[in-house]
Amino acid sequence: MQVQVLSAVGGEPRRRYLRKEKYKSMKIIAINGSPRKNWNTHILLEKCLDGAKEAGAETELIHLYDLNFKGCTSCFVCKLKDVTVEKCAMNDELKPVLEKIRACDALVLGSPVYFGDVTGEMRSFLERLLFPYSSYELKPSSFGKTINTAFIYTMNAPKFALPFVNYNLIFKKNRKNITRIFGNSTYQVVTSTYQFDDYNKYAISVFNGEKRLKRRETVFKKDCRKAFLLGKKLYNIIRL
Ligand SMILES: Cc1cc2nc3c(=O)[nH]c(=O)nc-3n(C[C@H](O)[C@H](O)[C@H](O)COP(=O)(O)O)c2cc1C
Repeated sequence: MQVQVLSAVGGEPRRRYLRKEKYKSMKIIAINGSPRKNWNTHILLEKCLDGAKEAGAETELIHLYDLNFKGCTSCFVCKLKDVTVEKCAMNDELKPVLEKIRACDALVLGSPVYFGDVTGEMRSFLERLLFPYSSYELKPSSFGKTINTAFIYTMNAPKFALPFVNYNLIFKKNRKNITRIFGNSTYQVVTSTYQFDDYNKYAISVFNGEKRLKRRETVFKKDCRKAFLLGKKLYNIIRL
């Protein structure tokens, strides 16, 4: 009799089944919007995933520049009346990534700042990710669940210059758009990055290579630690 009660799910004792469900690992996806591998954005995303992994998450990192895809082409298939699950109809190498994101539990995006905004590939990705879930009806999002999301921005500009170049407006605008769809978003800003492996090889007089290298070994390490903690937070179901 007791066995029957415990075997409600596939012959497995119910108590064990519930415990498994409770500790089912979360899937966290990172999207690298930098064309460079093993540089600032990629490294920070890896640290973020390390934090999530330590907390117990299953993780995956995707490099946008490895994929052949375009931004939204305004086909509006995702807005048709008879569409029940809003999906991007474009059939290219981003399609499986968008499907993985639909099923994931948290998402972290990373991009260098290019001319005061995210990179072109990240922009195209955001159009494809956000527009199908942007409802033209009264509900703001058709994603169907709330997930934690974060954005990591890297840039040459020093921290003190950010209010003058208005980058914060871009970061906040992206946060607003992402929050509207996924319900939750935060961002990390990493400034004065180390851009070249040998500053002496390039014609640069506005940045000091030695200072940047020193910063790489000190401040950037702290930035990596912050990204690691961000990953742990992403794992949490609590609001960021
Ligand atoms: C095409 C291009 C445009 C850039 N524009 C800016 C900019 O507007 N502001 C800024 O602070 N840094 C700018 N940068 C510097 C990058 O944002 C910075 O080096 C970043 O950390 C690079 O990321 P990565 O190391 O992950 O590739 C630019 C770099 C490139 C290649």
